[in-house]
Amino acid sequence: MENEKMNSENASNAQGEGVNRRDFLSRSALAGAGLALSPLSWAAAKNETSSAALQKPKAMNRRRLGSLEVSALGLGGLSVVGFYTGDVREQRQVNRLYREAFDNGVTLFDTAEVYGPLINERQVGEAVAPFRKEVVIATKFGFDVDPETGERRGLDSRPKTIRRAVEGSLKRLKTDYVDLLYQHRVDPNVPIEDVAGTVKELMQEGKVLHWGLSEPGLNTIRRAHAVQPLAAIQNEYSPWTRDPETGVLPLCEELNIGFVPWCPLGYGFFADAINENTRFSEGDFRAILPRTTPENIPQNLEMLYYIEEWGLHKNATASQITLAWLLAQKPWIVPIPGTSKSVHLRENLKADSVKFSAAELKAFNDGLSKIEIAGAKNAKPVMEAMGVEAPPKG
Ligand SMILES: NC(=O)c1ccc[n+]([C@@H]2O[C@H](COP(=O)([O-])OP(=O)(O)OC[C@H]3O[C@@H](n4cnc5c(N)ncnc54)[C@H](OP(=O)(O)O)[C@@H]3O)[C@@H](O)[C@H]2O)c1
Repeated sequence: MENEKMNSENASNAQGEGVNRRDFLSRSALAGAGLALSPLSWAAAKNETSSAALQKPKAMNRRRLGSLEVSALGLGGLSVVGFYTGDVREQRQVNRLYREAFDNGVTLFDTAEVYGPLINERQVGEAVAPFRKEVVIATKFGFDVDPETGERRGLDSRPKTIRRAVEGSLKRLKTDYVDLLYQHRVDPNVPIEDVAGTVKELMQEGKVLHWGLSEPGLNTIRRAHAVQPLAAIQNEYSPWTRDPETGVLPLCEELNIGFVPWCPLGYGFFADAINENTRFSEGDFRAILPRTTPENIPQNLEMLYYIEEWGLHKNATASQITLAWLLAQKPWIVPIPGTSKSVHLRENLKADSVKFSAAELKAFNDGLSKIEIAGAKNAKPVMEAMGVEAPPKG
């Protein structure tokens, strides 16, 4: 799904006029509290920001994905490659965003061969070059991608395709090793033992340090792990997609495998980026997402409003509550929210300091379970490639 060709502009917000609900609410709240910034206070605030920018990288809580240590929150690459908006970010902007993430303690940067395709790995490679040795780059193989044109021809995890993909990733990422290599989707034609065996060889050659699977069948996880221990499973997980809780998470716990939720913010839905007036233009993936159709958005907003209620009690935004809730599930869960904007990055990273007590988590989950979600969790072709079991060996 991730290399769908994007048109330019995406969400046209009929509420529009340059003021969204979040801006309006926060401005009203500031004004109400008498805190609207005067020119003088703006100058003071500006000084504070520039001295903060000179500080050394801030510490963020650390977590383990198997034997791999990473920051509690990572950064996903789909936004900067324009997956939703069609707006591929200029390299200078990407450099600044990734530098800011690193300065704020982020050490996990997620990408894939098919993000772009072939574009996001280049963006990430250049952006993290100044601090490459201090961070974890996670990328993915699993498709037959033309190394020149980027044309994607379907799933392909044959050993020679994996090797070709990894060589291409190393070049684009400007590195000689991948810290965490995932199979993007299970190939129904290739036994997972062959995939694991190829990755094991790449590890022996020093080109790959850890590996993982994305959206695999449960038995495929066991078989892969038996050949070469897995560091992480990367699956969709957010307040409206909680199926990992009954299947893959207990298995990860049993096998000591970490878990990386993708689309932790529900494609921006739980960051208050979508409302009942939002319409996506053709080419924006969210236009074909059942949960963000004009018919289903109003019902699904109930869940966002519920999260915002909690935000009022815990003095946090919806995106912070959502990410903090994911972090609270298990100490080996590491969400990778995607963003192209510094202001969103800073907001999201503050989730690391929002805590849920066990009682709060239970109360939050009880309320969440009562909210009905309209629409399947993903588009049909995407769902068909999830939970697939690899064919038996031999
Ligand atoms: N393994 C897989 O199959 C798979 C599939 C999908 C994604 N992924 C990975 O998971 C990462 C995360 O998923 P995702 O990026 O698709 O979805 P996501 O993190 O759930 O949401 C990203 C969307 O939310 C918006 N957003 C983020 N923070 C925001 C904030 N504080 N306020 C308002 N809007 C905000 C972003 O727009 P802005 O750019 O405007 O901030 C973007 O449109 C990806 O980037 C990718 O690395 C993996």
